[in-house]
Amino acid sequence: MNVQTKDSEQDHGYPDTTVGKPILESDIKVAARDVSVFYGEKQAIKSVSLDVAANEVTAFIGPSGCGKSTFLRALNRMNDTIDICRVTGDIRLDGEDVYDRKVDVVQLRARVGMVFQKPNPFPKSIFENVAYGPRIHGLVSHKSELEEIVHSSLERAGLLNEVKDRLDTPGTGLSGGQQQRLCIARAIAVSPEVILMDEPCSALDPIATAKIEELIDELRANYTIVIVTHSMQQAARVSQRTAFFHLGNLVEMGDTETIFTNPEHRLTQGYITGRFG
Ligand SMILES: Nc1ncnc2c1ncn2[C@@H]1O[C@H](COP(=O)(O)OP(=O)(O)O)[C@@H](O)[C@H]1O
Ligand SMILES: [Mg+2]
Repeated sequence: MNVQTKDSEQDHGYPDTTVGKPILESDIKVAARDVSVFYGEKQAIKSVSLDVAANEVTAFIGPSGCGKSTFLRALNRMNDTIDICRVTGDIRLDGEDVYDRKVDVVQLRARVGMVFQKPNPFPKSIFENVAYGPRIHGLVSHKSELEEIVHSSLERAGLLNEVKDRLDTPGTGLSGGQQQRLCIARAIAVSPEVILMDEPCSALDPIATAKIEELIDELRANYTIVIVTHSMQQAARVSQRTAFFHLGNLVEMGDTETIFTNPEHRLTQGYITGRFG
């Protein structure tokens, strides 16, 4: 890094390194080091280093456009699907380089699943939405095994009771909240280790949102979850750890309670007290 850049960064109040409390080495599921993301010439993520702890919910917060979605998509190489997008740095899942040439991205995205802002069930039956992944990944050899996976995934997503009598009806016929739980069931069906959620409740009403938040809290027993949210209340409710992004920088990361009650950095303080955002 040249001196010029460093000085100008300090002028904006960015620390040389992210402030906050690090995670124990043994708890790390995903480790990102010096990750930068570019769209053409424009740098959207600026040398971010961050650890995601296993079986925890990590929330990404920060003002709109600060790079939360961009960084999230770097974790399972979803950015590969955007032509002008380039990722540099190092991202490891259980110590394995996610960007290694040998990595099969389809396999990677099964291990690191994703749930989007707008529920996006396939135009297929509820059953087929969940069965699709296990089938293309060759996870089942018998119809009964497939049925078992579909049922258990719907159960884990808290949806089975509501849909068990209409598994052959279109997934798109469900309510928004049910569709989002169907998308979570679809992600779960391929036995992911990490689930990335990009503002999963922003299209949902408060009751459907509460159900998803409850579900996220249950899911962390078995999965590692990273959630982008524009709602600080939601981050405070569902996450154990929070990362605050600002203009492509990771300003501060720490346990959620500390971030919301006693942050170290003035930019974090400013954001959580509503002075900008
Ligand atoms: N596909 C894209 N092409 C070009 N620029 C993009 C693209 N996606 C996001 N950006 C830019 O990258 C920056 C970060 O965006 P994003 O990650 O979506 O922020 P957030 O999720 O925090 O709102 C923004 O300046 C945005 O305009
Ligand atoms: Mg976003």
